[in-house]
Amino acid sequence: MSWLLALDQGTSSSRAMVFDADGCARGAAQKDFTQFFPHPGWVEHDPDEILASQLDCARAALVDAGIAAAELAALGITNQRETTILWERSTGRALAPAIVWQDRRTAVACDRLRADGYSDLIRARTGLELDAYFSASKLAWLLDNVPDARRRAEAGELAFGTVDSWLVWHLSGGALHVTDPGNAARTMLFNIRSGDWDDQLLALFDIPRALLPRIVDSSGRCGETHAEVLGAAVPIAGIAGDQQAATFGQACFTPGMAKNTYGTGCFLLMNTGAGIVASANRLLTTVAWRAGGRTSYALEGSIFMGGAIVQWLRDGLGLIRHSGEIEALAASVPDSGGVVLVPAFTGLGAPYWDAYARGALFGLTRGTGAAHIARAALEAIALQTVDLVAAMDRDGAGPLRELRVDGGAAANDLLMQLQADLLGVPVVRPQMLETTALGAAYLAGLGVGVWSGEHEVAAHWRAERRFEPAMGADRREALIARWHRAVGRSRGWAEA
Ligand code: G3P
Repeated sequence: MSWLLALDQGTSSSRAMVFDADGCARGAAQKDFTQFFPHPGWVEHDPDEILASQLDCARAALVDAGIAAAELAALGITNQRETTILWERSTGRALAPAIVWQDRRTAVACDRLRADGYSDLIRARTGLELDAYFSASKLAWLLDNVPDARRRAEAGELAFGTVDSWLVWHLSGGALHVTDPGNAARTMLFNIRSGDWDDQLLALFDIPRALLPRIVDSSGRCGETHAEVLGAAVPIAGIAGDQQAATFGQACFTPGMAKNTYGTGCFLLMNTGAGIVASANRLLTTVAWRAGGRTSYALEGSIFMGGAIVQWLRDGLGLIRHSGEIEALAASVPDSGGVVLVPAFTGLGAPYWDAYARGALFGLTRGTGAAHIARAALEAIALQTVDLVAAMDRDGAGPLRELRVDGGAAANDLLMQLQADLLGVPVVRPQMLETTALGAAYLAGLGVGVWSGEHEVAAHWRAERRFEPAMGADRREALIARWHRAVGRSRGWAEA
């Protein structure tokens, strides 16, 4: 039997899963870790806590599966993307908290670059919108604010990495400083055409090359874990950002196939094959994965608040005690009673890219209750996704025939039905909802020959339920128009 371990380091929790050669889960563990919000708009993680929680989960998942690390064919890593970590090569010690992808502290620095006319150059080379979301401005901030960091970076004493690099570094006992092209493509320092770090962008953000990891395939053995970390040396054979991994786990291998993951944020990726599709509608062009030296690309719509809206209703407002309660609460009313929630808590991502938009609730009346707000929250998740699909259509990447869904909130039947209704496109939920971890396991397994090719992996994919659109076009258009009015009013708020 071939076993694979997937390490899934997400924004809200670390997870690990053990899979067998049929792609079935045989063991799992999960651990939440601390979110730090030191100032409005800032979001930080403790890199040590990320590492410790991830290693705890890895060990616990092996115990859960009843296997030892020595029995693993390989492990794959998938991670929250863009989150930026700077550490000391000699000790592996992080020099500052990780700046999380949601963090907006560098919005003004990005504004300056935009005013200086760099947006087009950046979009052409990286496929990205000039925004604080990506790693480059975060890394520049660390170099400017951590004492002595720039000098030490230039002297080759420091290392930068997204979370995949940080984990691989420590898993390998400091032997490997690597990343895959999909993660690299989220830094805003990587040229998606040449497949390498871009000197002009490094100069623009004033980032010394000596900081950067080596780029390796997303699928393929790049090294092994230090024997002491998990109890045996395990080949590291898969690395992918969580959204790329989920696209792989959903077997979206053919151009035009798309998935949406309802995690902390929502990320809709459409496979565009070997072709780079440039968006005219503020979507991102990104690397999906590179295997056997061949790069696959995707068009991506990134939404910053998805399932995290439900977390906020739970932790911020106390409207529910457990996330799972939102469905019953929202279903207790036939509609939101005119309430619209714009979840711009950390600005708006695609297709608006407004770092200064802020969350807003519209349409409150004396009759508004918790259920209406809960329903408006679910509608907001679905409506943000509608904006992404509309942008893809305008980019000529559609029409979308069906949307494959995954992530924690995809278990919510009401949300999935709302999504199908508001998109006017069927939404298909697979039996295996842990597609992010599964994708990392597939990449690792393909990398060491557990499977012979994508066709074998695709044969494992099974639908659990298909949600057909049932809403009339008039109602759909009215809800979308009302949503756009609300979005318009939430924009630019933090500047006021
Ligand atoms: O780009 C950020 C993304 O990778 C985070 O994903 O699942 O932690 O919301 P998630």
